[in-house]
Amino acid sequence: MRDSRHTAQEEVLSMLRHADGCISGEELSRCLGISRTAIWKHIKALRSHGYEIRAASGRGYRLVQAPDLLSPAEIQNGLNTRFIAQNVQAFDQIDSTNHQAMLMGEEGVADGTVVIADVQSSGKGRLGRRWASPAGVNLYASIVLRPPIAPHRAPQLTFVSAVAVAQAINSFSGMEARVKWPNDILIDDCKVGGLLNEMSAESERVHFVVLGIGLNVNMTASQFPDDLRYPATSLFLSSGRKWPRAELARHLFEKLEQLYHQYLNEGFEPVLRQWESLCCWRGRVVEVDRGTDRIRGRFAGLDQTGALLLDAGGTLEKIYSGDVRSGDD
Ligand code: BTN
Repeated sequence: MRDSRHTAQEEVLSMLRHADGCISGEELSRCLGISRTAIWKHIKALRSHGYEIRAASGRGYRLVQAPDLLSPAEIQNGLNTRFIAQNVQAFDQIDSTNHQAMLMGEEGVADGTVVIADVQSSGKGRLGRRWASPAGVNLYASIVLRPPIAPHRAPQLTFVSAVAVAQAINSFSGMEARVKWPNDILIDDCKVGGLLNEMSAESERVHFVVLGIGLNVNMTASQFPDDLRYPATSLFLSSGRKWPRAELARHLFEKLEQLYHQYLNEGFEPVLRQWESLCCWRGRVVEVDRGTDRIRGRFAGLDQTGALLLDAGGTLEKIYSGDVRSGDD
């Protein structure tokens, strides 16, 4: 596990980043109060993690390129939030970031703590399904929040995170991500991300909520499982180019914090409106498979609890769970 305390190595990296051109080993050693040998060891370690650092004789070191690592140092580089991702718990490998975040939430980690991993061995999807989580290509993140709300309002946070993810994709990449009830993110009608929120609460009070976000960033076609139940994509497959994960994660955490503030200050209504304007079915007919039956109707928005509203021949139906697909055909 890598944590967000600033190690000497991170201090070296930060000085390289902020240097105007080259910075000498002597200056690094003086500023950080460690020996030249220690500086050299940190440079070597950074290079082994993929940082391209050039050494020019007589002038010192220069950072040429940073790797696409989901480390606290990369995610927090220039991060503009007050609490989300101020504590980043990063793992090279983990079973599920949601599982880990639930444990850390019980242990009392700070509000806004992010648990992130490069690969998940048991990534959890909705309805007990698995979430494909190969190494080095995607975002798997879980955010621990401690909202001052009653437990019955917690499902509204799924819509806060859906809007944040879709808006972050749209402003970061220029693509047109949409949201699909209850917890999917789509590009060109293919699933690019999913949300899985979990909660620890007592009858009157939420202890904490874990917002789990899985986003297919640079995944290639062969990395998707063969038995997928829905058409899926990644930002790479939809745009033809690779995207820097840490920068995207930073952008996402900033968006999430803005929306979460809006939700806490102004209530669910503004989030609901933004969700509806991003929804893939505005004005369309959809069909819901509720397990025991199917129902068709025109999409009519969401109610205050986040239930899906369908206009089924003049009767307004409320849908609390189910698999929804376009019923236009
Ligand atoms: C779904 O659409 O079925 C929800 C998928 C949620 C996947 C994310 S990846 C990060 C977090 N950790 C998990 O184990 N699941 C969520």
